Amino acid sequence: METNKKNPVSGFLVALIYVLYFAQFCCAVDTIRQGESVADGDSLVSENETFELGFFSPENSTFRYVGIWYKVDVKTVVWVANRDNPIPNKNGVLSIGVDGNLVVLNGNTSLVWSSNLTGLSSNTAAILRDTGNLVLSNTDTSKVHWQSFEHPTDTFLPGMRAPVSSLIGEFHIFRSWKSSNDPSLGNFTMGVDPNGGPQIIIWDRNMGRRWRSGQWNSVIFTGIPNMSDIASFLYGFKLSQADENRTQYFTYDPSNPSDLLRFRLTWDGREQQSRWDDDRKMWTIMQTQPDPVNICDLYNHCGNHATCDNFEAVKCSCLDGFRPKSPDQWSKGNWSGGCERRVELQCQRTNGSAGEDGFKGLKHVKLPDSSNLLLSAGNIDACETSCLGNCSCTAYAFISGIGCMTWEGDLIDLQHLDEAANLQFFYRVHRSELDGSRKISNIVIIIISVLGACFLVVTIWLLWRYKKKLRDSFRLGLPVVSSMPCCKDDDVAVSNKSKNKEFSADLSGGPVDILIDGSQVNEPELTVINFSSVAAATKNFSEANRLGHGGFGTVYKGELPGGQEIAVKRLSGQSGQGLEEFKNEIILIAKLQHRNLVRLLGCSIEGDEKMLIYEYMPNKSLDYILFDETKQAQLDWRTRFSIIEGIARGLLYLHRDSRLRIIHRDLKASNILLDVEMNPKISDFGMARIFGGNQNEAITIRVVGTYGYMSPEYAMEGLFSVKSDVYSFGVLLLEIVSGRRNTSFRSSDYTSLIAYAWSLWNEDKAMEMVDPSIRDSCSTTQVLKCIHIGMLCVQDSAMHRPTMAAVVLMLETETPTLPMPKQPTYTSMRSLMDAEYSMDIHETASSKDVTVTMVDGR
Ligand SMILES: *[C@@H]1O[C@H](CO)[C@@H](O)[C@H](O)[C@H]1NC(C)=O
Ligand SMILES: *[C@@H]1O[C@H](CO)[C@@H](O)[C@H](O)[C@H]1NC(C)=O
Ligand SMILES: *[C@@H]1O[C@H](CO)[C@@H](O)[C@H](O)[C@H]1NC(C)=O
Ligand SMILES: *[C@@H]1O[C@H](CO)[C@@H](O)[C@H](O)[C@H]1NC(C)=O
Ligand SMILES: *[C@@H]1O[C@H](CO)[C@@H](O)[C@H](O)[C@H]1NC(C)=O
Ligand SMILES: *[C@@H]1O[C@H](CO)[C@@H](O)[C@H](O)[C@H]1NC(C)=O
Ligand SMILES: *[C@@H]1O[C@H](CO)[C@@H](O)[C@H](O)[C@H]1NC(C)=O
Ligand SMILES: *[C@@H]1O[C@H](CO)[C@@H](O)[C@H](O)[C@H]1NC(C)=O
Ligand SMILES: *[C@@H]1O[C@H](CO)[C@@H](O)[C@H](O)[C@H]1NC(C)=O
Ligand SMILES: *[C@@H]1O[C@H](CO)[C@@H](O)[C@H](O)[C@H]1NC(C)=O
Repeated sequence: METNKKNPVSGFLVALIYVLYFAQFCCAVDTIRQGESVADGDSLVSENETFELGFFSPENSTFRYVGIWYKVDVKTVVWVANRDNPIPNKNGVLSIGVDGNLVVLNGNTSLVWSSNLTGLSSNTAAILRDTGNLVLSNTDTSKVHWQSFEHPTDTFLPGMRAPVSSLIGEFHIFRSWKSSNDPSLGNFTMGVDPNGGPQIIIWDRNMGRRWRSGQWNSVIFTGIPNMSDIASFLYGFKLSQADENRTQYFTYDPSNPSDLLRFRLTWDGREQQSRWDDDRKMWTIMQTQPDPVNICDLYNHCGNHATCDNFEAVKCSCLDGFRPKSPDQWSKGNWSGGCERRVELQCQRTNGSAGEDGFKGLKHVKLPDSSNLLLSAGNIDACETSCLGNCSCTAYAFISGIGCMTWEGDLIDLQHLDEAANLQFFYRVHRSELDGSRKISNIVIIIISVLGACFLVVTIWLLWRYKKKLRDSFRLGLPVVSSMPCCKDDDVAVSNKSKNKEFSADLSGGPVDILIDGSQVNEPELTVINFSSVAAATKNFSEANRLGHGGFGTVYKGELPGGQEIAVKRLSGQSGQGLEEFKNEIILIAKLQHRNLVRLLGCSIEGDEKMLIYEYMPNKSLDYILFDETKQAQLDWRTRFSIIEGIARGLLYLHRDSRLRIIHRDLKASNILLDVEMNPKISDFGMARIFGGNQNEAITIRVVGTYGYMSPEYAMEGLFSVKSDVYSFGVLLLEIVSGRRNTSFRSSDYTSLIAYAWSLWNEDKAMEMVDPSIRDSCSTTQVLKCIHIGMLCVQDSAMHRPTMAAVVLMLETETPTLPMPKQPTYTSMRSLMDAEYSMDIHETASSKDVTVTMVDGR
């Protein structure tokens, strides 16, 4: 006060000097050079102040350690240097020694810890990076000599790499603290077992394996109950490509770099994932493995050949066909002995003639441990055959993302997971253990199997086919045989056959089996409407009632006597074209019910006339409004966003929630119908395909779809999966935002809407692609989020596209942190034109989409 009054200038100077004086200390240093040191009490701080390096004492301890911790919070230590060699007082220093090594010295300047490298030049410096990595490198050449990320203690940070190498084998990269306040080496280690689909393992020094994550299927670890592919996608879990030393690395990389995430191996032997909650200023624990309340998570808790359940209480049960090894111990609840076979395998008795054994399936389980697991390519049938043919093979599984897995010897660490875990494996048992034949004596079995095997197989097969046909007819909710006019059982058989053809070797009967065996699916009630009343309703298919031309027929509006409006799709009569699609649509859509899928009300057939009857959509299809300059203003941003959400939910239902896993294959604006309230409904299932439970992709030799909406792998290789629908969805989303057809770019500077969107997005001008009629009234954040999601969906590589579950999550989250898209370089137009396919392009009357049917010459 007084100084100010007396002499403001000197007051200012004093302040300036203070500022300069403190500036020396305030602006943290992140580098330590030769001859410099960090004393106890000083610290290094990384560039953006995320991490700090210095001396610390754990809670309730007076020992001093050099460590790295997050600067944002209460000291959460992620790395410790002298963990086994604490300094008893505050006289320690961290410095770079004369030999260039990073060293920690105690008060008597004797060595407590060293980076311990030989042959270093003397000009080295250590820098604490913003990732939490302490890097010792040569100041002249920048060659990295040592980094803390390669010598971690108990914490796995983003950017760290956990090696996966069959040459190194099990690599125990992380080691726990001894106790919550003692960083010295504890009993537990964590690392990756590279064998099979690699798994994360926690080892206990006293007991060996303590926990395992289950095999990595290239998206998630299959044995972690709650690991979601969405989280995996958002947090960027990844197994890198193998380098020249055949080493791969597990890494993770949160899509939002300011997200603070860490995995820690806790002192009591659990892997714990936490995320920094900046609002509440605390770490939230996202998951803990092994789960402290689930004993079944502990390695092989029930012993070999037994499953562990924890649904109400912990319960161990032997696999079917096995019995407790020591029944008295087992009944006392000492499960460690596990189970053994009741009946020795036939192939073992006969030295390898393998055909006498069979397999039992087990669902929703953590797959057996991989110590004796072999991987191979092929499909599930080949997998079964190869396992059956080799007596040492005791189990097999076919898991998408991993392939065919076959086990030898004991089946170890089986745990029941919840229904969401879509995992199944098959284990070998003696044929007498298979259902129905248990009571028959072995001799009888041998006789029967030798004499009657062929006969039985043929008979069963015939019976099974016959039963299937009958069941089919009933499932459709229609009278059997003659009075089932829309879809006779013959038709189903035909479509079954042709599908097999189309799926080539990959899917022997798969899709139709699931459909017919669809016991979980509601039985559809298909009303059969006779031809004359349909003709009356549509004024004899008058031109005035004509709505447009769908994928495989003309669509008319009709009105039933009661006043109910309907849409009728009439299959273009004489040509056989469309018959397949017609059947496919009947079979499929009748089983699906969702507010974002169009509803099939009935069907009609008479002579050559085949018709499908749908609910009527007064607002026609999306392309009709969206691409018409006079109408597109009807679609304000809110409506468009709800249309996008609706389509995403409909698609998610097809892909996941309908339990049938259906790939639509022809998603486009003209296949999105709008009801009175502008709710979107996905229509036209003529090209849709059903996938089996574990199947992830299929190949077709007949590529059908719409030009501009086809994903690269589908257009070029005929490879389709849920991710090809995601691609089409991305294109559609960009169309809805921009109000422009993907194909309207043919003559412009850009080859496609995608190229156009990318270039604007890349220059931070994404708002310019928004339809001018809504640009001023829309929510910028929502629009940008949608464009961002659109860019993710149209990534060239199917792997980089999110699943529809992730898309829905991203759409519904206020401000999600999204991964950065890469530039999509493929545009379907260019590649299609370049490809040497014979193409059959026919421009349809009412829509400007070009439907492409390509037949690969191979
Ligand atoms: C530090 O933050 C700035 C601005 O937020 C950013 O541009 C820079 O990349 C960050 N540096 C590191 C190493 O993360
Ligand atoms: C430290 O000591 C207090 C009092 O003895 C105890 O309550 C607390 O749990 C201790 N903290 C740790 C990490 O051991
Ligand atoms: C330093 O040396 C003194 C005397 O040699 C010894 O008593 C003391 O324990 C030493 N301190 C450390 C930290 O080693
Ligand atoms: C340094 O390495 C040598 C051998 O490479 C080893 O014997 C010694 O124990 C190490 N010292 C420290 C402090 O790790
Ligand atoms: C570590 O193992 C030792 C025996 O080797 C045991 O006494 C100690 O309790 C174990 N510590 C923990 C945290 O399990
Ligand atoms: C899995 O999720 C459910 C519900 O979200 C939760 O109750 C359960 O504790 C979670 N289990 C684990 C192991 O995280
Ligand atoms: C491969 O191994 C050699 C010899 O151990 C090593 O020099 C090289 O740096 C390794 N390559 C990679 C990419 O790690
Ligand atoms: C549990 O059973 C195994 C044999 O199955 C036996 O070796 C072990 O001693 C038993 N443990 C206890 C605590 O009884
Ligand atoms: C099976 O092979 C073993 C050794 O390979 C042999 O000792 C045994 O006699 C064989 N048994 C039969 C039934 O061939
Ligand atoms: C059976 O499988 C084992 C390993 O699983 C393999 O070593 C052996 O060669 C196989 N035998 C035959 C006949 O394929």
